[in-house]
Amino acid sequence: MTSQLERTYGLRSKYWYLPETSLSSTAQELFFKSSPDNETQQFLDESNSISSNYFWQTVRNIGVMILSTIYSKTDINGITGFGNMFLFSESQFASFLEIDRQSWTSADKNVLDLGAGNGDITAHMHSFFNNVYATELSPKMRNRLVSKGYTVLDALEWANTDVKFNLITAFNLLDRHYSPGALLQDLWKVSHRSNCLVIVSLVLPVSHYVEFNPNGTGTRPDKFLNVQGRTYADHVHHMIVNVFKPANFEVVKWTRLPYLCEGDMNNSAYYLPDAVFLLKSLNKDDGSASPRTATETESNSGSVHNEL
Ligand SMILES: C[S@@+](CC[C@H](N)C(=O)[O-])C[C@H]1O[C@@H](n2cnc3c(N)ncnc32)[C@H](O)[C@@H]1O
Repeated sequence: MTSQLERTYGLRSKYWYLPETSLSSTAQELFFKSSPDNETQQFLDESNSISSNYFWQTVRNIGVMILSTIYSKTDINGITGFGNMFLFSESQFASFLEIDRQSWTSADKNVLDLGAGNGDITAHMHSFFNNVYATELSPKMRNRLVSKGYTVLDALEWANTDVKFNLITAFNLLDRHYSPGALLQDLWKVSHRSNCLVIVSLVLPVSHYVEFNPNGTGTRPDKFLNVQGRTYADHVHHMIVNVFKPANFEVVKWTRLPYLCEGDMNNSAYYLPDAVFLLKSLNKDDGSASPRTATETESNSGSVHNEL
């Protein structure tokens, strides 16, 4: 597997799942190592065959050039279906959440995926959750999500919904959000009320870029995430200590995954180093973990259970 991934992208795949530099002891203790698998390779192979089709790539480039005079990049991807992304396979997701697929029942389970884009990443969670809710600020992406059968909630009002979720996810949204602090507050409020775990992922080192800003036209958030240092490992540490902890989240575990994007004429695929954090809301007053279901024990508190 390793050699296949290296052949496709040329980057040593050892670093797709492991940080290049040493981790702080806090980050090391919470680290969960993911591994490459066939679904990851399949995405890369498909991307490779699309990118080497020069006729298709020429049509695509002309189409994007025309559309970019009117639409944002995200809207263009929503209209055309270009720019497909891959973060994890179903089995990588199941092993990160310690889901036992034999005993798992998806009926009556709700997942909410915030900033879901075209739903590519969301789709890998669908078999575990019968009801998929999503938010998006791009109207074209919202259309894509509806066409996939997902229930799209208002992107600015989702935290006021009455629905209780079994899991809330925000993949690669925090550094794209106009107010990362408000997003973390809403995540805390709804996950605490739902008594569920949260997954937040983002590309590290952090680089903010706001494409959809209801507060104005700028590409900067109202407040930057409080991370210091230059490396992926530095930012993992500061995300745990300076960002999630003050937002009343305990990091249960985290993993490194390659965030892959379909290629173009220049590259067969694009790779970004993602950090995926599994979070548990803490009680605001004393910092203790919020009560879980009666069946959850110390040893399995990092997994999503049938009962949740
Ligand atoms: C980097 S993309 C991530 C898409 C997908 N979650 C993934 O991991 O591939 C960020 C997405 O968040 C959407 N977005 C930005 N701000 C948002 C907000 N406040 N609420 C909902 N979606 C938002 C953008 O339109 C974009 O599709």
